[in-house]
Amino acid sequence: MTVITCIEDLKRIHKRKTPKMFFDYCESGSWTEQTFRENTSDFDKIRLRQRVAVDMSNRSTATKMAGRDVAFPTALAPVGMTGMQTADGEIKAARAAEKFGVPFTLSTMSICSIEDVARATKAPFWFQLYVMQDEEFVDNMIRRAKDAGCDALVLTLDLQILGQRHKDLKNDLNAPPRLTLKNMIDIGFPTRWEWAIGMLGTHRRTFRNIVGHAKGVSNLNSLMSWTQEQFDPRLDWEKIAKIKEKWGGRLILKGILDAEDAKKAVQIGADAIIVSNHGGRQLDGALSSIRVLPSIVEAVGDQTEVWLDSGIRSGQDVLKAIAMGAKGTMIGRSYIYGLGAMGEQGVTKALEILQKEFDTSMALCGRRTIEEVDRDILLVPRDFAGDWA
Ligand SMILES: Cc1cc2nc3c(=O)[nH]c(=O)nc-3n(C[C@H](O)[C@H](O)[C@H](O)COP(=O)(O)O)c2cc1C
Repeated sequence: MTVITCIEDLKRIHKRKTPKMFFDYCESGSWTEQTFRENTSDFDKIRLRQRVAVDMSNRSTATKMAGRDVAFPTALAPVGMTGMQTADGEIKAARAAEKFGVPFTLSTMSICSIEDVARATKAPFWFQLYVMQDEEFVDNMIRRAKDAGCDALVLTLDLQILGQRHKDLKNDLNAPPRLTLKNMIDIGFPTRWEWAIGMLGTHRRTFRNIVGHAKGVSNLNSLMSWTQEQFDPRLDWEKIAKIKEKWGGRLILKGILDAEDAKKAVQIGADAIIVSNHGGRQLDGALSSIRVLPSIVEAVGDQTEVWLDSGIRSGQDVLKAIAMGAKGTMIGRSYIYGLGAMGEQGVTKALEILQKEFDTSMALCGRRTIEEVDRDILLVPRDFAGDWA
């Protein structure tokens, strides 16, 4: 039995236990994957400043994100098709998050529906919305999220058209997978039987937020083309303001990577913004999130909460983001690896690993609470932000 000590261990097990098309769907970026790679390698360039002989007793990693108490400053990011990494994946991840004390965000493109997750959990979760051209469908989603008690709407702004991931095209990604010989050989691989049995044992195998709720979507063949065609390319700040009004609750804008856009988000009254490049899955060639974070923090100050996602694979990464001025972070792949490896237990394991790494590193930097974590604990190369013209 492997002793699991880090996120990388969970990733190795995830790869072994999950059909190739779904592991690849998780572990890929758009086009050359430059941004995907730099999201993690840029974190490595920042170093932590060790301090000694500082009282490190009575530490706490607890804080708040968008008014919610969190065990440490992170939340589970919205991840499409989570229920294909393991059966009922969204329910398992939401339960792990609830028990651990961090928020879970359900994607529009989830396998388990808003109602499925609401029935399986007690703590309110967040709902991530993609704006579609079918206004009635969008209004309906907002109403369903409200009815389910979701206490924040995460509006994703960086995916109105799709970045291309070569692997997904080559693997003929689908939910559920088509029963071709190639896929059957892949799924039939000896380490994947648990995945296959789980999938046979659930009825949740397609995009349940959409099928049966959107006009003209009754089967999977039409679903894939429907989603490709339906994302609204005309989404602008006016439409965002309208959605804010319709929702009427906490609004978090995801996918901000530019100081000018961050200022617009503040004007609109966003309760939080997520500095994110969608985990390197959209604009290949964009800067890593950690590299642009300081410019966005400087641009908006305390006018809204600034969070960061993309590239977090350790508690040290979370600490670096907080020290750079983020009030919270989101993790995508780090918890998906855990889910694919060991289901709900694996998500808990991922969160335990990250929190422990965060706590210990914070102490070794001479800090005891989130409020004490500041830019002083970092050693950042002078040219880190880069001199981009
Ligand atoms: C497999 C996968 C699917 C994703 N699906 C969505 C989605 O449906 N909606 C969304 O807003 N973001 C989606 N994202 C982006 C994540 O919310 C998050 O921004 C990203 O995973 C952060 O990078 P990280 O994986 O390096 O932590 C997805 C990311 C991955 C890896």
